[in-house]
Amino acid sequence: MNPLAKELNETIEQNSPVLYNMLSDLGKSIYYPKGILSQSGEAKSTKYNATIGMATTEEGIMYTDALYNQFGDQDPSDIFPYAAPQGNERLRELWQQKILSDNKELNENQISKPIVTNALTHGLSLAGDLFVNANDTVLLPEHNWGNYKLTFGVRHGSQIETYKSFEDDGSFTLEHFKNTLENYNKEKVILVLNFPNNPTGYTPNADEVGEMVSAIEKLANKGTKVVALVDDAYYGLFFEDVYTQSIFTAITNINHENIMPVKIDGATKEYFAWGFRVGFLTFGHQNEKVKEALIAKLKGLIRSNLSSCALPSQTAIVHAMEDPSFQSQVDHNIQILKERYEVTKEVAYRKAYLELWTPYAFNSGYFMSVRVHDVDADKLRLHLIEKYNIGIIALNNTDIRIAFSCIEKLDIEHVFDAIASAIKDLK
Ligand SMILES: Cc1ncc(COP(=O)(O)O)c(C=O)c1O
Repeated sequence: MNPLAKELNETIEQNSPVLYNMLSDLGKSIYYPKGILSQSGEAKSTKYNATIGMATTEEGIMYTDALYNQFGDQDPSDIFPYAAPQGNERLRELWQQKILSDNKELNENQISKPIVTNALTHGLSLAGDLFVNANDTVLLPEHNWGNYKLTFGVRHGSQIETYKSFEDDGSFTLEHFKNTLENYNKEKVILVLNFPNNPTGYTPNADEVGEMVSAIEKLANKGTKVVALVDDAYYGLFFEDVYTQSIFTAITNINHENIMPVKIDGATKEYFAWGFRVGFLTFGHQNEKVKEALIAKLKGLIRSNLSSCALPSQTAIVHAMEDPSFQSQVDHNIQILKERYEVTKEVAYRKAYLELWTPYAFNSGYFMSVRVHDVDADKLRLHLIEKYNIGIIALNNTDIRIAFSCIEKLDIEHVFDAIASAIKDLK
């Protein structure tokens, strides 16, 4: 093993032996090399800096006007150079402040500085690199974001197991989650928690979060090492009285050596910046040396897959977050989604549709899902495209997902009415 990896592992093992055993084989062997980036960093203040594969003039970074003109009044040095593998420092600070301001029960010592990722998919994949070995168990709710299967199942070779989160009548339940954890008897588990949930649009309330956290704590007390990956893609899009901090906070506050909370979040959905590819990964740990070692390993993982994330996107998010009117612009969009949510809620549960579908409980996010009765979900999907000009997602044989985030408020009734007609056509 490389001596730098050994050094990081020793730091982690000495300060948090259980955490060391949670790392995957790749997580153990990865390190941040004293290579070009490190050497170039050390040479930053030299007069003749001939270290890195960029091009400079006496005035600064070399660039072309045609590209520069796309970026308004930004400084070229905030656009053209490579970003650091861990991301722009100002952006990391701003995001850390955001996390702390959204999560009042969390303090700075409990978390690492967020590391910039190429949005959430990359963050999840990096977390998988660090913690998931082939044949480890990844526990997911039955209704989950389909890409987890690729990331954790295919890419990392884990065994994916699921538990139900909804009763037959569509109401949310924790019974299966609690039973699954109670009966779990392996040494390690990777729990992926995602609220507001894709595809159902459900976020638990404070009591439900309490129950979840207590089930996780019991599992950890039994000796299982729990890596809790919290996917906060839709954080902040809450439309009812739900738990509005991240469940990452509640889990971090258990402060249990057998639990490693990791928060994955970003600008993608929260800031309506899907294509910017700006996300973050934050560790929930108190020990400064451990945090440093984990960050070094994450830098190594980033360096080894995409080197560093795009600087113009990071600069854009920094400027937006520093713009005093930004949050009210975000809130304006959230308000539009909330109004769509309210109409969707009223329409989806109408008596006339009771025999056609059962909605799964929803209160947040971009989506809602229903279980359709007596028709195949994919046939329904295709029929809706062909006859009604409507696109929805078939999740499996019975369930469809509707992104009310993409339907104007005044069109929602029409869309549900057309889905009802389409179901009747196919029955
Ligand atoms: C639950 C969930 N997590 C992560 C992502 C991916 O986000 P990103 O586009 O930032 O990679 C999505 C996108 O659809 C999602 O629904």
